[in-house]
Amino acid sequence: MTDLQRPATRPADPRFSSGPCKKHPGWSLQNFDDASLGRSHRAAIGKSRLKEAIDRTHALLGLPADYRVGIVPASDTGAYEMAMWTMLGARPVTMLAWESFGAGWVTDAVKQLNLDATVMTADYGQLPDLSAVAFDGDVCFTWNGTTSGVRVPDGDWIPADRAGLTLCDATSACFAMDLPWDKLDVTTFSWQKVLGGEGAHGVIILSPRAVERLETYTPAWPLPKIFRLTKGGKLIEGIFSGATINTPSMLCVEDYLKALDWAEATGRDGLISRAEDSARAIWDFCDAKDWIANLAEDPATRSTTSVCLKFTEAGLPDDFAKRVAKRLEGEGVALDIASYRDAPPGLRIWCGSTVDPADVAALMPWIDWAYQTERAAG
Ligand SMILES: Cc1ncc(COP(=O)(O)O)c(C=O)c1O
Repeated sequence: MTDLQRPATRPADPRFSSGPCKKHPGWSLQNFDDASLGRSHRAAIGKSRLKEAIDRTHALLGLPADYRVGIVPASDTGAYEMAMWTMLGARPVTMLAWESFGAGWVTDAVKQLNLDATVMTADYGQLPDLSAVAFDGDVCFTWNGTTSGVRVPDGDWIPADRAGLTLCDATSACFAMDLPWDKLDVTTFSWQKVLGGEGAHGVIILSPRAVERLETYTPAWPLPKIFRLTKGGKLIEGIFSGATINTPSMLCVEDYLKALDWAEATGRDGLISRAEDSARAIWDFCDAKDWIANLAEDPATRSTTSVCLKFTEAGLPDDFAKRVAKRLEGEGVALDIASYRDAPPGLRIWCGSTVDPADVAALMPWIDWAYQTERAAG
């Protein structure tokens, strides 16, 4: 077999992981402000850095003034499960899932909280029928399914006058997609995704109706300390102003503040268009080939952050996609792009805002090269 010609251009940065995601351009450990490190997080400096992270998140996301932002333990999982454990059970619940993280929230609701939930699922690549969702009860869903690359197209399916709450896991959407805040009562995300921060802490965003639920409803089950958002029937204000439930990593906070510097300079629209430009480079590439396609079947539901692809040719070996990903990793042009372990075989290329669209574009000829090379290898 003769070696196929390698593309002339390489991505300047091969990091396309879907989490933790690439650090923002210009990131360096040397740039950290260390004044809050090695100090109590309850000291004025620590609290002010945490409050700054909250206030700047609020502003950058363009949240309504009466929405609250809290920093909580255990990354997005902590934030989302805290929401489920504190708010569900007051009304009927609908759980929507179309990939593995949403499926995890279904397990939480049905097997751990023992809720008699209406479960609406769809296979990888598809969405459940959003027009059939009942909003007299609470609705849990993931805005962008990170492991299938399928997102809800917009918030039009959520009525403004709903009686229940919407609980939205937006960890791979926040900052990279336009979110209709008036349709979202609880929204969660982790710093490790679109802004390329660290895991460890989660962010929970509450609408006034979510706060009302917290202050008027006590779940039937016990709540561990790290899930408690109220005391004596009142919201614990500290969580939303920099007094965290337990000790945070101030290093992660400082890292997030640096990410916010970059994100603010890029602007909300800039963050969104960087993701869209990257995703479009992949979509255009797929359109021009007959052997690779987006896992998302409906173009309106294609993710602009976690773009998931499948090889369409019949008869490929089961490990074909893994071999392509490994070959690209070996060449040093793409790290961590094999599909998620529970997802159909394929590639998943992170296009969140910290990734340079030029790097995504430069990766496309390499995918072609790796595909042809693997095919030739038999
Ligand atoms: C949609 C979704 N939900 C939840 C998680 C879990 O996030 P974390 O590991 O930050 O808790 C992820 C991580 O990739 C995710 O993509």
